[in-house]
Amino acid sequence: MAQVTVASPTNIAVIKYWGKRDSKLNLPINSSVSITINQADLRTVTTVTASKDFPTDRLWLNGEEEDIEKNKRVQKVFAMVRGRSSKWAGMKVHVVSINNFPTAAGLASSAAGYAALSFALAKLYDLEDAYPGDLSTIARVGSGSACRSLAGGFVAWDMGDKADGTDSCARQVAPANHWPELQVLILVVSDKKKAVSSTAGMQTAVDTSPLLAHRAAKVVPARMVEMEAAYHKKDFAAFAQLAMQDSNQFHSTCLDTYPPIFYLNDVSRAVIQFVHAFNTACGEVRLGYTFDAGPNAVLLVLKQHAPQALAAVLAHFPPERGAEAGYVNRPAMRQAALAVGPPAGLAAAFPLEPQVGVIKYVYHTDVGPGATILDSSEALADSAGMPLMTAPPPRPAASLSGALELCSSSRLQLAAGVLAAAAVLAVAARKK
Ligand code: DP6
Repeated sequence: MAQVTVASPTNIAVIKYWGKRDSKLNLPINSSVSITINQADLRTVTTVTASKDFPTDRLWLNGEEEDIEKNKRVQKVFAMVRGRSSKWAGMKVHVVSINNFPTAAGLASSAAGYAALSFALAKLYDLEDAYPGDLSTIARVGSGSACRSLAGGFVAWDMGDKADGTDSCARQVAPANHWPELQVLILVVSDKKKAVSSTAGMQTAVDTSPLLAHRAAKVVPARMVEMEAAYHKKDFAAFAQLAMQDSNQFHSTCLDTYPPIFYLNDVSRAVIQFVHAFNTACGEVRLGYTFDAGPNAVLLVLKQHAPQALAAVLAHFPPERGAEAGYVNRPAMRQAALAVGPPAGLAAAFPLEPQVGVIKYVYHTDVGPGATILDSSEALADSAGMPLMTAPPPRPAASLSGALELCSSSRLQLAAGVLAAAAVLAVAARKK
């Protein structure tokens, strides 16, 4: 019997991956680049166990067993790992995986999930990178964006041009400590699963959107160069502006898709207006936004402006009365925001009345490291590879209060205090 437990972060793209040239291998039509989100706030933990006593491969997602045979993405990841190593030949594997955030609500849950699965299996089977980024190709076949979650900091996914996908892999542009002042506010507008999965949405876009073809061929290559330069220079205004423009173009391709796809909603659009009004009031770009395939807003901000930005969010998108305590994952940050207040002139620049309760909660987080091996004491399975459901995955104290707030809702799927929301890989299986 051998067992490995890992944690993997999620990531948020600031130049978006949208569209595949090969859907079996998840080869993209353009390169992309993302920041790796601090695992203290959003992560997937996965334990894999190999044993000669297991008759079949099995997979549990937040305590519920999935039909692994039907999960083509997981099967592809298993096949790739087993094709590269004869270790544990003939032995079957048990996988136990848990997310600490809502699945498929636009928080890149499949990225964390497949990065964790691939990284755990790579460790179990003693795989090493044959070339830089090699192992990220395994995560990529699970879910494209997952290849960017193996590394920390600022991570590019170079599209490559080989048919076998060996050059379509992740590359760390800068480690997490390169720009420690860069922080993130995630405004959770919805924790519901999205109506159109990324996989389905981007396929229809490739088939029908001339704007997407133009974007991939002409716009993204130049933006990748500019974005990496902005990150290296820590030029926040350039970084945030490019991120906003790229998010807007990605959502424009969704509208250009036939029939159109709508991931943003009225709250998302209000947040976009709010960010521009905030920057107008400040007389400079202090806040950026980016939206993935869902309505949640990811705001980009420097540490010195984070309390002011959060104060503005609290003023214009306040929680329901009585929901204040759990609204922000870090209570100290909320206190700092209340002490600083929003910028003068914001109310004049932003025409909308405060919208109470439209944002469910706010994660204040930052940039963090990539996938990591955890101590065996943090395993999610017992020595027989069966799920342990009696304790939550260990979490740093700083974010514990916020995580516990999540437990009060119906998102909590497991009885015994497990913080997980829903299953990342289960959704991906449905996406196929
Ligand atoms: C909008 O990686 O979820 O988040 O490869 O089909 O699994 P599959 O898609 P997925 O798409 C993510 C799209 C995005 C942009 C991004 O993360 O780059």
